Amino acid sequence: MWQKIEAAPADSILGLTDAFRNDPNPQKVNLGVGVYKDEKGTTPILECVKAAEKILLSEEVTKSYLPISGDPLYGREVQKLLFGADSEVIKTGRAVTAHAPGGTGALRVGGELLKKFKPTAKVWISNPTWANHKGIFTTAGFELATYDYYNPTTKSVDFEALIASLETVPSGDIVLLHACCHNPSGVDLNCEQWKIVAALGKEKGWIAFLDFAYQGFGDGVNEDRCAVEEFAATGVDFFVASSFSKNFGLYNERCGALTVVSPSAKEAVVAMSHLKATIRVIYSNPPAHGGLVVALILSDEELHKQWLAELTTMRERIKAMREALVAGLVKRGVKEDFSYITSQRGMFSFSGLSDSIVKWLRDNKAIYVVGGGRINLAGLTSSNIDYVCDAIAEVLNA
Ligand code: LMR
Repeated sequence: MWQKIEAAPADSILGLTDAFRNDPNPQKVNLGVGVYKDEKGTTPILECVKAAEKILLSEEVTKSYLPISGDPLYGREVQKLLFGADSEVIKTGRAVTAHAPGGTGALRVGGELLKKFKPTAKVWISNPTWANHKGIFTTAGFELATYDYYNPTTKSVDFEALIASLETVPSGDIVLLHACCHNPSGVDLNCEQWKIVAALGKEKGWIAFLDFAYQGFGDGVNEDRCAVEEFAATGVDFFVASSFSKNFGLYNERCGALTVVSPSAKEAVVAMSHLKATIRVIYSNPPAHGGLVVALILSDEELHKQWLAELTTMRERIKAMREALVAGLVKRGVKEDFSYITSQRGMFSFSGLSDSIVKWLRDNKAIYVVGGGRINLAGLTSSNIDYVCDAIAEVLNA
């Protein structure tokens, strides 16, 4: 069957991790995939997760199926995290949430659901965007279009161009937005700008789909909610894909959620019925473990507090690495101004390193960076920062 079929290309992010694993160079550094590393260079299991797992292990009585949309407590807790416990959306019951296998699973389920009811819509993605967005929505059957987002000269959001693009989106099309910590650029809209974008979405009648994979990695769990809050305030339909891979460190548990917000509770019931029908024919119902862990942590006062503290530690370590990288390059006499890296948010920086430099770093120094120059700052530690700064300075000062 495969004799005449060409091999598929390796994934631009996860394929890099495979190459990194196989690299025998002891000094190798992985700045590719968006996975948090602590100061020791390991991806830890959070203490609050370990504590929750202990409780779950002792109390667990069955491995029977979860409901199609997952554990109901999980859905309720995810909504509180998204909208705030006292939000109008929760009080009026106009949002429904299903546990999905990771942020990717949530986006794909949302894509399948939208395709059923908006078969001729286009999905608009930011320029640039996370590489997998394209695959997820084209595989769900959508044609893609791009809206302007990042200005490589100013290293910031080109808000005028963004608005000009979004003005042209026809009613009924879908606009995929990064709710915070834009991947790959690390530059975000502020709350005022989100208000303008949300109002525009309502006026034009396009449907926002917020990819919210990094809640808590910008300024904090509550502070990072602006996009969701502004769309909620408009009262129109929108979708949110959450991921708990990063903020709970639950990467391999595939724990995410799709939340569909409607104008009324009555419509939300209809949305949930179709959400369940969509999930049933893909993976039937979700894996339990990650969702039970998240639900327990969020619903328990002590564990919740502990989680917020651990999340703060992760966020602050990444910020410290941003400062260290910029200072390290200045110290080595690099003439390019990299100071913008310190104001970018989340795990990533669009470093401005060209593809030929990215290749040089990999071939000569075993430093792995995603094509296009996206660096995962969380892969830097005090043990490898000098090595990385030396390598970048060597190539840029040459
Ligand atoms: C990333 O962008 O590196 C992460 O979201 C991991 C992934 O699945 O690509």
